[in-house]
Amino acid sequence: MKLIKIFIVVGARPNFMKAAPLIKALKKYPSFKLRLVHTGQHYDPEMSASFFKELRLPKPDTCLGVGSGTQAGQTGKIMIEFEKVCLKDRPDLVVVVGDVNSTLAGALTAAKLGIPVAHVEAGLRSFDRTMPEEINRLVTDQLADFLFTSCEGARRNLIKEGRPEAKIFFVGNVMIDTLLNHLRLAQKSRMLEQLGLKKNHQIRKYALLTLHRPSNVDLPIVLQRIFQALMELAREIPIIFPVHPRTLRQIRKFNLFQFVSFQENLKHIQKAQFQGKMLCLPPLGYLDFLALMSQAAIVLTDSGGIQEETTILGIPCLTLRKNTERPITIQEGTNRIVGNDPERILKAARRVLKSRILRKKIPKYWDGKAAERIVKILKQQLKS
Ligand code: UD1
Repeated sequence: MKLIKIFIVVGARPNFMKAAPLIKALKKYPSFKLRLVHTGQHYDPEMSASFFKELRLPKPDTCLGVGSGTQAGQTGKIMIEFEKVCLKDRPDLVVVVGDVNSTLAGALTAAKLGIPVAHVEAGLRSFDRTMPEEINRLVTDQLADFLFTSCEGARRNLIKEGRPEAKIFFVGNVMIDTLLNHLRLAQKSRMLEQLGLKKNHQIRKYALLTLHRPSNVDLPIVLQRIFQALMELAREIPIIFPVHPRTLRQIRKFNLFQFVSFQENLKHIQKAQFQGKMLCLPPLGYLDFLALMSQAAIVLTDSGGIQEETTILGIPCLTLRKNTERPITIQEGTNRIVGNDPERILKAARRVLKSRILRKKIPKYWDGKAAERIVKILKQQLKS
């Protein structure tokens, strides 16, 4: 039996949820020989190792250990290190997922060595080139030989950019595979009880917040205005805010502590102290976060994946961005774009809290079987 060598590249938190079901599905076929490459883009235990544990990802076979850096610095370092790995043990295929710098660097390195590339989550477009992720998406999709998409709109974007129909495969959403696989386990999380949000099976209404986009957190005036709006909201409803390391750095740098109450050690929460402020927690593990998301009255976020996850969970989501590369979550799901204007955020949040957005429908193929579809296609295509 001829073995087909596949390298899967991961690096940042949202990659891990996308790679997990793929690895599981690929492992069912003994003719695939896998190597998991971790670039080290995210390196804090709570941004990386905890996801490997909870999602039962195998230990990476190769760690590039590149760490943080500027856009070019980080991308370049990954390319230099990944090229060495590819030259030493040439794969038949490199699989990249999502839109982070590790995605672009993995695809670019492989393409330059003439190694076929598969991109999972191809064709999403925000049409906003100020976002590093949009550049990563555009370039990765130009280079990829297999474009695995999560919605019909993605195919249209790719065709408009001149990508051949034959390379595009509508397979569904691998991130939702992971969500559906872990929902029951997440129900065992004690997070809500720990935060005093659940007592005797009664759940108190609360909001869940995440923020990390450079456009929201890198300018003091922008972050401060968002925080002012959220402070107002925090008087009406408890806000739980697991803080991304980038955002924590900015809160410290801009000295915005008057808006937030910090709970640094999760193990020692007796009863959360909201005091009309946002309750900041360290970045949470996958299961605790899923538990919080699935019971929230409202989720406010600038993440991409959370827009998709709330759509499946039927939880109202306000996206604190000017645009989204995931319009299907608005058309078919529970998402609304509100930008970062304080008045608009507050108005939209109050409206949602008064009358919940009802779940519309589950997008096609967001059914927990996307990874299986991908692997079936790869099996056929790589044989030929
Ligand atoms: C990256 C992705 C973004 C994704 C996000 C999820 C790119 C361009 N951006 O953004 O699309 O939504 O991950 O989290 O790839 N840091 C730590 N510890 C870590 C990781 C980061 O302290 O484990 C800090 C560093 O100070 C670093 C900063 O966070 O400089 C930003 O990290 P980086 O990976 O550059 O981008 P993210 O903002 O995490």
